[in-house]
Amino acid sequence: MNKFVKKIVASALLMCLGFNFAACSSSSELTVEKGVLTMATNAAFPPYEYWENNAIVGIDAEIAQEIANRLNLTLKIEDVSFDSLITGVQSNKYDIAVAGMTVTDERKLSVSFSDSYATGIQSIIVTEDSPITDIDALIDGDYIVGVQIATTGDIYMSDDIGMDRVEQYNNGADATQALITGKIDAVVIDNQPALAFVAANPGLKILETPYTIEDYAIAVNKNNEELLNQINKALSEMKADGTIDAIINKYIPA
Ligand code: ARG
Repeated sequence: MNKFVKKIVASALLMCLGFNFAACSSSSELTVEKGVLTMATNAAFPPYEYWENNAIVGIDAEIAQEIANRLNLTLKIEDVSFDSLITGVQSNKYDIAVAGMTVTDERKLSVSFSDSYATGIQSIIVTEDSPITDIDALIDGDYIVGVQIATTGDIYMSDDIGMDRVEQYNNGADATQALITGKIDAVVIDNQPALAFVAANPGLKILETPYTIEDYAIAVNKNNEELLNQINKALSEMKADGTIDAIINKYIPA
């Protein structure tokens, strides 16, 4: 080998090393566990995530499964309390939180959010014979409102009526039971679970005036820009090829 060829071979080798190293480090750092996409959720939120026949199913579970497939990763779902989702993503316990989670400015200080994949509305559930007719009546009266702890319903109601009139529950179903037994006067929760809880419990209704409209997105660790980009790429392909619509329509027939 002459000097010139040697130089080329050496630099090609170096480049390979460089590339391999980059490839290695990026693939091992993409997820907490190599080859696995660890999703945390709070599976008491139909039709986005709930237990059925010993499995977590729903819109979020299917969207995450499809993302994992497109990223060549195996999906692992962990069911945890809603108020530990953000800290779990922050501390790299989980790669993502997919939980009908609303994008808020305050949460953005702790995690990154993917592009939005669905819209949610905060709804008000009351008993059929309730004197509460709209959000103003709820705010102006001295009613007690049940919410799922740490959700936007909890945050907004605490701001609007004060924490002493807000009862926090571990999940929407518990809040709904408290409404049925007369412990509280209303439940503020996302519209789709609200519909599911009202359908499952006679004597309840949803007020027609919604409280707020919000965007749902996937929470990712702030330092994992690579995973965030890959999720956004998969999401935009899934929006374009109709996958997202098909999953949502399966659980929320138009
Ligand atoms: N959208 C609301 C929020 O982000 C409620 C989400 C609750 N999700 C759940 N899986 N329990 O605060």
